[in-house]
Amino acid sequence: MEKTVLSLLFLSITFLPHVVSATPDRGTLLSMSCAACHGTDGKSPGAMPSLYGKSSKYIETSMLNFLQGKRVGTVMNRIAKGYTKEEIKHIADHFEKIANN
Ligand code: HEC
Repeated sequence: MEKTVLSLLFLSITFLPHVVSATPDRGTLLSMSCAACHGTDGKSPGAMPSLYGKSSKYIETSMLNFLQGKRVGTVMNRIAKGYTKEEIKHIADHFEKIANN
């Protein structure tokens, strides 16, 4: 019995890092809520501006401007308010990264 518990413990310690690294990073997770309007991977199929191919700096600055009311949009001001500055950076980095891979 003790042996089983020990080997289970060993197995979970051995495999845990793999499980963790298989889950998407924060930027990927956070950016999923943008897909409804900006399309999968930020490639917008319709009238919404695409985020794909835009630099991290551009997306971050736009989001901060929406957040602070320096740029006026129809929906983005409200959406930007749902994120911290740190989360915006993660999202912006994510969109830049997928376009450069
Ligand atoms: C409900 C639909 C909707 C969702 C969800 C949404 N957006 Fe937007 N986004 C828009 C619209 C519409 C615009 C054009 C500006 C406006 O009218 O608010 C826009 C504009 C932008 C722009 C400016 C693009 C440019 O070319 O200047 C950025 C950056 C942006 N969105 C980022 C995001 C991010 C990041 C998310 C997810 C956290 C997100 N948006 C989620 C609808 C949406």
